[in-house]
Amino acid sequence: MAFSLRHVAFIVFLLVLCETSARAATFTSSRAAYYPNSDQGGTSVGACGYGSFGVNLNGGDVSAASNLYRDGVGCGACYQVICTNSNICSTNGVTVAITDSGASDSADFILSRHAFSGMGQTADSGASLLSLGAVNIQYQRVSCNYPNNNLSFKIDESSNFPSYLAFVIWFQQGTKDVIAIQLCETLNFNCKLLDRSHGAVWAVVSPPSGGPLSVRMLLSDGIDGDETWVVPTNNIPQNWKAGDVYDSGIQLN
Ligand SMILES: *[C@@H]1O[C@H](CO)[C@@H](O)[C@H](O)[C@H]1NC(C)=O
Repeated sequence: MAFSLRHVAFIVFLLVLCETSARAATFTSSRAAYYPNSDQGGTSVGACGYGSFGVNLNGGDVSAASNLYRDGVGCGACYQVICTNSNICSTNGVTVAITDSGASDSADFILSRHAFSGMGQTADSGASLLSLGAVNIQYQRVSCNYPNNNLSFKIDESSNFPSYLAFVIWFQQGTKDVIAIQLCETLNFNCKLLDRSHGAVWAVVSPPSGGPLSVRMLLSDGIDGDETWVVPTNNIPQNWKAGDVYDSGIQLN
């Protein structure tokens, strides 16, 4: 009897150990492929709607995501992606920003060529990776890193002053998602909720007018329901123009 009790205690101990290490391991196992086109960096036609900004974003280390695209909520999120072949893969892998939606070979990520080969220890091992086409990886969400930029609002070319306003968020750091955006004119504080038109593009018909526009962003960590409204220092000017980029004056972390 005493023996079996000790046995049970040992099993409980093992279970606790497993639980603890499972929580400590933040990486998820998956597969990664790369864009078959010959471009080194990203794509200007990604589903997130970044346009040409998506080509060189994050030094061209960008990716299409399948499940992680999350109907556009995943646009702009960054992931550390590490391939698992220790002979050719570096220990830190690459950090990529999501700019597109796509799936291939049951891969969670379709990386740019630059990012895919960047998982190698050297240029040669990067070339070996490319010849494999798709590889096993581990990934985790990390903060994007844009040391030279504040979070900014790029007024989408589809906008039509003053009746239709659409914009994309550029240079979003941190590991939280923007799940809602409210636009308020700063004269009488009439506010309107924006819709996620597609990807990272937020839009509203008949935006509030009568003053500069304050952008209120609802951030979510997606895990424990923690949601916070963030209001940048800078407003979008009253006479906003399609194609212009407005610096929010803040950065997230
Ligand atoms: C970010 O915004 C602040 C104002 O809040 C400004 O002083 C700073 O120069 C901006 N940083 C960059 C990198 O543009």
